[in-house]
Amino acid sequence: MSPAPVGRTPVDLTAAETARVVRTVLAPLIVQGVIVRRPRATAWAERHQTDRAARAVLTGLRERHGGAPLVLRLGLRRFVVVTEPDDVRRLLENSPEPFTPATKEKRGALAHFQPEGVLISSTAERWHRRPFNEAALQADRAVHDEGAAFVDAVRRGMTALTRQLDSTGLLDAESFADVWWGIVLEIVLGPKARGDRELIADLNALRRDANWSSLHPRRGRLREELERRIGSYLFAPEPGSLAAAAYDRGPATAVGQVPHWLFAFDAAGAVTLRALAIVAARPEVRERVLEEADPVGPSPWQTAGRGPALLPYARACVLESVRLWPTTLAVLRDSTGPTRWGERVLPTHTGFVVVSSFFHRDQRRLEHADAFVPEAWLDGRNNADWGLVPFSGGPVACPGRNVVLLVTSHLLARLAVRDLRVERGRYLARDPLPATVDHLGLRFRIAGTA
Ligand code: HEM
Repeated sequence: MSPAPVGRTPVDLTAAETARVVRTVLAPLIVQGVIVRRPRATAWAERHQTDRAARAVLTGLRERHGGAPLVLRLGLRRFVVVTEPDDVRRLLENSPEPFTPATKEKRGALAHFQPEGVLISSTAERWHRRPFNEAALQADRAVHDEGAAFVDAVRRGMTALTRQLDSTGLLDAESFADVWWGIVLEIVLGPKARGDRELIADLNALRRDANWSSLHPRRGRLREELERRIGSYLFAPEPGSLAAAAYDRGPATAVGQVPHWLFAFDAAGAVTLRALAIVAARPEVRERVLEEADPVGPSPWQTAGRGPALLPYARACVLESVRLWPTTLAVLRDSTGPTRWGERVLPTHTGFVVVSSFFHRDQRRLEHADAFVPEAWLDGRNNADWGLVPFSGGPVACPGRNVVLLVTSHLLARLAVRDLRVERGRYLARDPLPATVDHLGLRFRIAGTA
């Protein structure tokens, strides 16, 4: 790791600037629901294209203050919003010390349903929980050893989606979610869990509480019930599931990590829906996805003798979807000690904010800021950019990235086989793409049906 740069000296925003950042940047993120999205708020965000205004405000402040980190006081809390990729790099490379991901707000939120999750763990607890996650999720492998079983779960899910499409001609976010949770339950907890919607209902109820962070009382009984349900699968794990991979590495640790895995798969569903919207709106993208997957070949979706195919283009489409419409709205850090930044020393417990949609669509850095260019993930351009952090970066980066890309690319490729049209597809057919797309409002129809 190269030595961390000292960086530009942070500037204090005026009261008017602070109000503008709170109103246009932070409030829309919080209103939409940080842990589980609120459908009416996401529809409102799309109508008002809230990410466009947020980007304009942060771009203006970056120009005015020469890229210096922006300091806001909110009550007793001090937050620093960074606007330059080298500052993102500094935060992420120097995690979890002196910049911990276990921020005050995140601990308040995630403790509702995953108090032992690695993301909100102390540095001492992280010491064994992080390697546990990396090993069970096989973070460094493009295709997990159990990839064939995961893709099988996708195939079964696609059968359900096909039935539904054939009977109604329609696919919307609600009907997609029902099938999606079945796929997720099977991948994470095994085939017997596939129909356990009560587990998902418990999880989602706790996630709704989590949207309020520490302002909502904890529901200990409900959390115990969630843990009991997870345990019923985890302690008798079915082969081919992530539960089995986790159980082998320590059941006691596993039970604390699985709630995060289930929760995080929700984002993967959102990302798939938005990628599908592009596939449905752009015939040339659909053609390339199909070409790669070769669904009519003798052994579709498989690489001879090596399990599921990698599908690099479909993976890049998924990555492009999460770049354009990031699901982790802001990457947060808290400082664990006084930190020198430029000419200033920021006190312990300063909060740091990386607004994903601002960095991911920064026209100053990215020629393709508002365009759909999966090629930029294939030729390495995007991977070299510290501002592009859909799965974060550094020692706390998402260890589920490869599992997500495997599962979503296979589902996307199978969905692409159906000739779907997306409502209001004209906004997605050409660049520039809308700043905000509400995945919960997406509706698809089989081509040729009214
Ligand atoms: C589209 C789907 C997903 C996206 C965009 C995503 C993104 C992220 C991001 C941005 C972080 C880091 C936050 C930070 O730096 O503070 C993270 C952490 C994490 N993700 Fe994901 N994630 C996704 C799905 C998943 C899935 C499905 C799993 C597990 C099966 C998973 C497991 C984790 C874990 C365990 C962490 C915590 C890492 C740590 O604290 O060291 N993620 N994810």
